[in-house]
This record gives sequence, C-alpha cells and structure tokens, in this order.
Amino acid sequence: MRIDIISVVPELLKSPFEASILKRAIDAQLVEVIVHNLRDYTTDSYKSVDDYQFGGGAGMVMSIEPIDRCITKLKSERNYEEVIYMTPDGELLDQGMANQLSLKGNLIVLCGHYKGVDQRVREHFITKEISIGDYVLSGGELGAAVLCDAIIRLIPGVLGNETSALTDSFQDNLLAPPIYTRPRSYKGWDVPKLLFSGNFPEIEKWREAKAYERTKKRRPDLLDE
Ligand code: ADE
Repeated sequence: MRIDIISVVPELLKSPFEASILKRAIDAQLVEVIVHNLRDYTTDSYKSVDDYQFGGGAGMVMSIEPIDRCITKLKSERNYEEVIYMTPDGELLDQGMANQLSLKGNLIVLCGHYKGVDQRVREHFITKEISIGDYVLSGGELGAAVLCDAIIRLIPGVLGNETSALTDSFQDNLLAPPIYTRPRSYKGWDVPKLLFSGNFPEIEKWREAKAYERTKKRRPDLLDE
C-alpha cells in the first residue's frame, strides 16, 4: 500500500511515521507514506495556496489549482483507489472503515486547512470525506495521522502477533475486556484468579462477558448496531 498525503503543514506529518509500529511498517516496506507540500504545486510567486471566500465571510479557502496539479500528477504516475479529504463534516471514521481502507492499494489523503477547500475540489477530485470525530481541529493533518495509524496497523504483517488486531476494541463492535500483567498482587489489588487457572475456555468466556459488560455500560450504542 502507498499513502500520499497532501498538506500545507507537512512538518506535522513527520514524527507519527518516525516511531513505533508505523515506522516498522514503513521500514519493512509494508506501506509507503509520502507527504507532499501543497506549496510545491502552486504557480503563485508568493507560494500562496489559499484565497478569499467569494460572497464574503471570515476565513480563507484552499484554492483548486495547486490541489488539481498535485492530485493530477500523482494520478498520472499510478492508480489510486480513493482520494480522501479530511474534514469535520465527513463520514465518521470507525473500525469498519479502517478495516476496509486497509485492504486498498494506493490512497491519496488531502488535509484541509483554513476554512477548507473550494467546493469544486470536493466535487471533482474527492471520492471519500472522513472526519475523525465531532470536534474541529486546526487542520486535517492530525486527522490524517490518526487515519493512517488506524489503517496501517491492520495491514497483514504489521503487528507482530496477527491476532492482536482481531482482539482490539471495536473489531466485533465490543470494547476490549480488562487486561493484566505482573505482579499478581500490587498494594493488595489482585488480578482475577481465573486468569492463572490455565482454563482457557473459561478465560475466554470471562473476557467475552467483561467486554459485553464494559460495552453495555460505556457504549450501549455499539450493541444496537
Ligand atoms: N479537520 C478539522 N477537523 C477535523 C476532524 N474532526 N476530522 C478530520 N479532519 C478535520
């Protein structure tokens, strides 16, 4: 998989890919992440990539031309399955969407800034609009990093233990059950004894019950789905 991210603040997209699981996935060539500075695609002598809003109103709008130049160049070099725009009015990212996107070949992710992009970009270039939550960020970059993390960890071979993504919260619309490690007792706070019993069918049942209990209490909406 290859992910091309288009941004006016590419610095924001450095460190998430330079550590831990995402770095390992990139080093192992399981994914390529290329960040493009949108300013490299403007013909404007001031490197400007935005302009005033027609009709008046506060806030600048990202112009169509540099975005067109960047996306058109990328598309002339390879095929892309989705051209994603990060925006708070997009479809809410969830585990199901991350699962689907992890199966794709190449993706373009456009990060919004200022007031957002000219509507014609959305109509003519974008195939999917994604929000990472019902709050407004200063730009799409952190959302793009979250999206990439959620997708990349699902690519086969990225997580050491193949089963570990399958037991994540949300994989089956349930939150994950409680987990423990050594010591067995800390300041009198004990780990449930069943977990040392070696009775794996019973442990599995206990985990399922705890996952259900936690989901019912914290996210009953997931059980309705
Ligand atoms: N850009 C600004 N806010 C955002 C959000 N919640 N999700 C995705 N991109 C955004």
